[in-house]
Amino acid sequence: MLGIIGGSGLYELEGLRETTRRQVDTPWGTPSDELITGALGRQQVAFLPRHARGHTIAPHRINYRANIWALREAGATAVIAVAACGGIAPDCLPGRLVIPDQLIDYTHGRAATFFDQTGSAVTHVDFTEPYNAPLRVRLGLAAKGLHLPVVEGGVYGCTNGPRLETAAEIRRLARDGCTVVGMTGMPEAALARELGLAYACLSVVANAAAGVGGSGQSISMDQILQTLKDAMVDVQRLLTRLCSD
Ligand code: HPA
Repeated sequence: MLGIIGGSGLYELEGLRETTRRQVDTPWGTPSDELITGALGRQQVAFLPRHARGHTIAPHRINYRANIWALREAGATAVIAVAACGGIAPDCLPGRLVIPDQLIDYTHGRAATFFDQTGSAVTHVDFTEPYNAPLRVRLGLAAKGLHLPVVEGGVYGCTNGPRLETAAEIRRLARDGCTVVGMTGMPEAALARELGLAYACLSVVANAAAGVGGSGQSISMDQILQTLKDAMVDVQRLLTRLCSD
């Protein structure tokens, strides 16, 4: 079973032959939305829109633990996380798909671990490689098979949001080595690791990050939403291809 987490602009999976749709509960609370299971191509899939249908849950308010737990309970052993981002590196242009191979966590105040109970043994999971390499390769092959422009590799910087960054913050992220910036990659990736799920991120560049390109212009939400809407056509095709191979 493959878990797919939909990000901004991806609230349902086209072509999913749905078998169940249910609001589940977990020891960590309720996930963002109903969990939908079914078949996409040859693959059994469990789908969850991270921000809920209607985009009502902000990045800092997502119950990441409930989402990851629910996918694992549904039988997922691997998770593809679709996530909108701002582009920092010159090749991460709006509309481009990016499959990062590293991340830096700038979030704070989020419930970031399952190992949180008083008295339970302290556990430190290895997180040297935050994204699962075979899953990244599958994403890259599916993109290339469809001739979609894709950037393989890169560093996803995860900010807390919900506001966008200042230009100086983005310059700092660039100095840190970040190539894209988003708000939802963490603690999602770490929680998946804690439960032993293979996890990879398919980042969709919605806009040039603050101050990138030197235009000095502010970032337009309308433009972001339009870019994401267009890019989701590519994402849907990519996911269908990946699940059919
Ligand atoms: N910054 C952080 N998260 C984002 C951005 C951004 O510019 N665009 C889409 N998600």
